[in-house]
Amino acid sequence: MSSVDPAFPMAMSNPVRASVTTICVDGRFAAFAPDDDRTLLEWLPQEFGVVSARPSCDGAHCGSCAVLVNGMPTKSCTVLLRTLGDAEVRTLDGYEASAGALAPLVEALAKPSVFQCGYCKPAFVFAAKALLEQNPQPGRREIQAAFNGLLCRCTGYQTIVAAVEEAAGSLCGCAGTAASVPPHPNPDSTHRPQSVADALALAKDRPDSRWLAGGQQLVPLLRNAARPTPALIEIGDIDALRRIEWQFGRLTVGAACTHAEIAASDRVGEALPELARLAGEIGDIYLRSRGTLGGAMVGAYRNGSYPSFLIAVDALIVTAWRRVAASAWFEEHSTRADRAASELIVAVELSASQRVSHFSFRPRPGRPALVGITGARWRDGSLRIGVSGYARAPFLVSDPDTLMSALAAGGQNEELVRTLGVAPLDDIEATGQYRAAILRHLLGRLRNHRQFWADG
Ligand SMILES: Cc1cc2nc3c(=O)[nH]c(=O)nc-3n(C[C@H](O)[C@H](O)[C@H](O)COP(=O)(O)OP(=O)(O)OC[C@H]3O[C@@H](n4cnc5c(N)ncnc54)[C@H](O)[C@@H]3O)c2cc1C
Ligand code: FES
Ligand code: FES
Repeated sequence: MSSVDPAFPMAMSNPVRASVTTICVDGRFAAFAPDDDRTLLEWLPQEFGVVSARPSCDGAHCGSCAVLVNGMPTKSCTVLLRTLGDAEVRTLDGYEASAGALAPLVEALAKPSVFQCGYCKPAFVFAAKALLEQNPQPGRREIQAAFNGLLCRCTGYQTIVAAVEEAAGSLCGCAGTAASVPPHPNPDSTHRPQSVADALALAKDRPDSRWLAGGQQLVPLLRNAARPTPALIEIGDIDALRRIEWQFGRLTVGAACTHAEIAASDRVGEALPELARLAGEIGDIYLRSRGTLGGAMVGAYRNGSYPSFLIAVDALIVTAWRRVAASAWFEEHSTRADRAASELIVAVELSASQRVSHFSFRPRPGRPALVGITGARWRDGSLRIGVSGYARAPFLVSDPDTLMSALAAGGQNEELVRTLGVAPLDDIEATGQYRAAILRHLLGRLRNHRQFWADG
């Protein structure tokens, strides 16, 4: 059970006692047992009486449960309480009471005409806050893009977008910068190693443990599982997993880098701008702020955004034990019953000396693409095409030139499938025929992409 002390002033140091851990919610400290297995979303109403973070889906995709954790927009259903020692949480109620420079945003969104039931309000308020901190004067399209994937069941989104436009108009660039401080470790209840060696030693002693990165996929999975939550080893503090380096024509991106960090990285932008663009379109604004590259290598193995890209540029997945070509990695993972990687992914290494174009078809904004393709042109003129979402596992097209010739000759879906030599997946998400049609459409976009085929 947790206990709440409303009189405990925020400015005082936070006393961590042996048997409890503390967390600060809207300026009030509360204690909880270090082995508390609830998510922040479950704990907030039960122990703190907070009702503004609302459960609405069981797959981490609606955003109604949004809060700020150490300033970072976070879906509270994706965070386990026991990973949050010393963290500062702000709920919608707390934020509305003291929004500082962003008070015009709170005022604009509080107008009765903006929301109907208001269930979805936290999702939009914190997404708009994150947007305005990065870009105080966004255009309508940028606001709409920031709301991709967030679910409102009542309104047509127009009033919400208009309110953010109105708020942006009165901000004059004074909104400040986005916070991206990860939660502090909870020393009593979670394992948060500082080096790869420490992480491996912890895992060796705990054979059933799981690596925990952003938790966007793992936490909802664990909460929906019948089994008790296993030991979790959080890897966000390991420097070797957070670096982005560009050396000798190779780009190295640490496995614990978030999609938002990859999208905003100057090094990635210079070496492989298409990778930065792709990372900036993954999921929704909350997923990008916490979800990591390493998590996507394990969790989003089939139709994730990265696989076709990594295969086309002949990337290497670097684990604590080995270096594996991306195509072999994804093939291997597609046949594993338990998608948890027992080996720690440290980084992904990419070659940056070629021209790259990525196209995907996303049936619903904010959710993974159904099919994605990436074309990479090498200095010697050769072409590699990676495909994801079309078959059971992402793959490298074995004869891309013949495939593009068949497309140029007007080949229909069946002919393309024959030339490709890979049968499309037929499942609950889409029929094989549909996938083949989407693939043909995406290959057509690649063929018509002038920049990709231009000399130089
Ligand atoms: C609403 C929604 C939309 C999404 N949209 C997209 C999308 O558009 N494109 C896309 O690619 N993906 C998408 N995803 C999937 C998403 O990319 C991944 O879920 C995310 O990157 C997971 O990262 P994480 O850090 O949160 O992983 P976690 O949830 O922490 O972990 C996921 C799995 O990876 C393992 N793991 C994590 N890091 C490592 C590591 N370094 N070494 C070994 N194992 C590790 C964990 O043990 C766990 O098994 C979406 C997911 C959701 C919920
Ligand atoms: S309840 Fe839907 S994202 Fe958390
Ligand atoms: S106003 Fe009702 S869900 Fe958005």
